[in-house]
Amino acid sequence: MAPAPAPPSSGILATAPCRRFLLLLLLSLRADSAAAAMDPAEREALLRVMEAVSSDRDWREAAGADPCSSPWPGLECKPAAPGGGAAGRMHVARLDFGVSPNPTCKDTATFPLGAFALPELRALFLVECFKNPDAITAFTLPPAANLSASRLQQLSVRSNPSLSGTLPSQLASIRSLQVLTVSQNALIRGHVPEGLGGLTGLVHLDLSYNSLTGPIPSRLGELRGLVGLDLSYNSLSGPIPSQLGDLAQLQKLDLSSNNLTGGVPATVTRLKALTFLALSNNGLRGRLPAGLSGLRDLQYLIMENNPMGVPLPSELGNIARLQELRLANSGYSGSIPETFGLLSSLTTLSLENNNLTGQIPAGLSRLKRMYHLNLSKNGLDGVVPFDGAFLRQLGRNLDLSGNPGLCVADRAVVPDVGVGVCSDAAASCKTSAAAETSVRRVIGGEVARGRWPAGLLRPAAVALCCCLLL
Ligand SMILES: *[C@@H]1O[C@H](CO)[C@@H](O)[C@H](O)[C@H]1NC(C)=O
Ligand SMILES: *[C@@H]1O[C@H](CO)[C@@H](O)[C@H](O)[C@H]1NC(C)=O
Ligand SMILES: *[C@@H]1O[C@H](CO)[C@@H](O)[C@H](O)[C@H]1NC(C)=O
Ligand SMILES: *[C@@H]1O[C@H](CO)[C@@H](O)[C@H](O)[C@H]1NC(C)=O
Repeated sequence: MAPAPAPPSSGILATAPCRRFLLLLLLSLRADSAAAAMDPAEREALLRVMEAVSSDRDWREAAGADPCSSPWPGLECKPAAPGGGAAGRMHVARLDFGVSPNPTCKDTATFPLGAFALPELRALFLVECFKNPDAITAFTLPPAANLSASRLQQLSVRSNPSLSGTLPSQLASIRSLQVLTVSQNALIRGHVPEGLGGLTGLVHLDLSYNSLTGPIPSRLGELRGLVGLDLSYNSLSGPIPSQLGDLAQLQKLDLSSNNLTGGVPATVTRLKALTFLALSNNGLRGRLPAGLSGLRDLQYLIMENNPMGVPLPSELGNIARLQELRLANSGYSGSIPETFGLLSSLTTLSLENNNLTGQIPAGLSRLKRMYHLNLSKNGLDGVVPFDGAFLRQLGRNLDLSGNPGLCVADRAVVPDVGVGVCSDAAASCKTSAAAETSVRRVIGGEVARGRWPAGLLRPAAVALCCCLLL
């Protein structure tokens, strides 16, 4: 007897032998996972971690044979990587502590050494975990030999005000690390371990907002895959190592708010992938290296509060993609280069509190994206060359105060930018041929475009005459 043909809609899966096979397969899979309880040593290491850190519950009671079978918040399990351990067995892959919905840390939490005995752990997060000022705990790691088999890719130790000690040199033994964040732990002090330069898989290294001292190790230049390096808000001293120029993939470099001295090394011009460079609040001085305009992707150059003490280089105007240029309070002298008028993506230009002299380049008012311009507290002079449209574009985000030699053509069209009207301030109106031309151009252009009522031409012309007479 021939078997009845299966109805076309349900296809081959509907045949009786096939159904029986699928059922057996499902049963065998289920039997497999039930049999695959966690390795006892791994289970014990996990419970030690939970007991060191978390007060959420009695973990030993709650765990059962396989903690991975009934997921806890903050615990993520994965099957072993192919070839690593029994088939179907689950392993601890990620642990998160400190911030809801993850387990909060108890008042007496200690740094969980047991985590480094979890063979398949890929990521460990301890965020706002150690906070009790009466229970300072030390940042320690197991001996280097115990870490060499670690598969940890991401370690994040952030915002722990009662975590103390130095950065353990054994960090250099976790060869699998890709993202290392030890940030906002005010009691973490000491040097940046040289050995971190051997973690060649690192993509992001963030050691910001600790209390680190000593030099930036030149060996960090060996981290050829590094995309982000943030050492800001520490007390690192000495020069910026020229070897950082070897970080060809680097997009973000933040060394601000340290005690770095010396010059900006010429090798930074080799960081062709850089989009963000911040070196503010250091003791850096001297000329910026030639070739910065080769940084075609640089969008943020933030270098305030350094005793640079040199003329503002015109090459900065050729960094094509620049959006923020902040160079306040750094002893720059000379005039604002005309080339700054080429920075068509610029939104913020902060040059306040320098020793800049000469006139404001008229080209700045062509910058259509600009919304914050601070030139206050310099020695700029002449007539402000901005037209009505540009002044409206900036509104209150324009500051020209503290430049005794600057004057504006007429109060009626210029809002309060901290500068007197030229006719009022005739004595300080040290205009030159260039300023006259720009006044003529502004007045002529605005009147021609019908923006200024014709009556305003008279006081403006008086101001111009007054400037010409001096
Ligand atoms: C390091 O490994 C040894 C040998 O396996 C072990 O006895 C010891 O407990 C481990 N130490 C730590 C802190 O994990
Ligand atoms: C950093 O520099 C500041 C100001 O120069 C100084 O007061 C401070 O002691 C320095 N800190 C270190 C750790 O060198
Ligand atoms: C800036 O100018 C003032 C006054 O001219 C001078 O005393 C000061 O030394 C100058 N500063 C720098 C860094 O050039
Ligand atoms: C310009 O910089 C000075 C600091 O020198 C600051 O006080 C002022 O608020 C700034 N102005 C604007 C508009 O940001």
